Amino acid sequence: MPESVILASPTGARYSRILSVGSYRPSHVVTNAEICTRIDSSDEWIRERSGITERRHASKDETVVTMATSAASMAIARAGIDPSDVDMVLLATISHPYPTPSAAVEVGELIGARGAAAMDISAACAGFCYGVALANDMIRGGSAKYVVVIGVEKLSDVVNPTDRGTAFLFADGAGAVVIGPSDQPGIAPVVWGGDGSQLQAINMTASSIAFRDDPSLGYPTVTMAGQQVFRWAVTEMVKATKDALEAAGITAEQLDVFIPHQANNRITDALVRALALPESVVVARDIVTTGNTSAASIPLAMDRMMENGEAHSGDTALLIGFGAGLVYAAQVVKLP
Ligand code: UT7
Repeated sequence: MPESVILASPTGARYSRILSVGSYRPSHVVTNAEICTRIDSSDEWIRERSGITERRHASKDETVVTMATSAASMAIARAGIDPSDVDMVLLATISHPYPTPSAAVEVGELIGARGAAAMDISAACAGFCYGVALANDMIRGGSAKYVVVIGVEKLSDVVNPTDRGTAFLFADGAGAVVIGPSDQPGIAPVVWGGDGSQLQAINMTASSIAFRDDPSLGYPTVTMAGQQVFRWAVTEMVKATKDALEAAGITAEQLDVFIPHQANNRITDALVRALALPESVVVARDIVTTGNTSAASIPLAMDRMMENGEAHSGDTALLIGFGAGLVYAAQVVKLP
């Protein structure tokens, strides 16, 4: 390249923050008793081992795209921006039935963000935190002003209801945030990574089991080595959460809220103990009535905590997502 040619380089807002959050919960409540009609288990075992008392399963008409559209539209309305202001739709999921076109581009069209860039993120239960990190960098880098980040799953389509290791755990729903420019830092540096040596810990394999709404779509099925993932979460994720606090330049005492991926209440308990969180820190326990909704679990919990008054606008919150890959991402944010 000749010396004289200097390319323009985009510059964006100095900081970004989460402006709003929205969610969608399917109406069909599935109790532990109903789950136990298909697996050899009990309400007591499921509560003790995971914390879950009930979860939601989407109906045939509630898809990854429709649930994501509802959550994103709610977040956009609450942000007070016009859908046409959205520059990028980032949608994290592992349960959209086909890889292309992306769910994100379809959702962009449905929410009225025509012309917005769009892509799906495949980072399983870490997908939402990956999206928040990417949106923060895009806004500060100048490639977008407003980004919608969605975490959405219809895991009832990809979980075998007769699998004792997963059927009681995974569930459906969607959460979304709008991220935009800010005068003050609203999203601290991300701490993220992956461990490809544990590919087999949670994966999806081809399956012809006819339990889905539409078996012709040929979804693969989730398999999980639960204990292996549990051990990794309660050791490696402790380091990641501590590193995220350090990256934000704060201590556990300065946190208001802790919203870990709602994987299992016992994993949350272990993280709370290891971080020595003060009693004053409010901890997300949305798993109890929502189950583990993978990419959707953090924004679903965030929205519920803000709606029921447990968390407030401006609170300092530590987020961490972790799951299949194995991959993870953690960051401290200001709540919208
Ligand atoms: O979201 C993505 C990341 N995923 C996670 O973070 C999930 C991490 N893993 C877990 O949350 C837990 O491993 C599970 C909740 C999935 C399972 O809990 P666990 O305490 O690890 O159970 P286990 O596999 O160690 O099994 C303990 C016992 C065994 O019986 P014995 O050998 O002690 O007699 C199992 O056979 O519980 C038995 N068991 C069950 N009993 C009733 C296993 N599954 C069930 C079941 N109902 N569904």
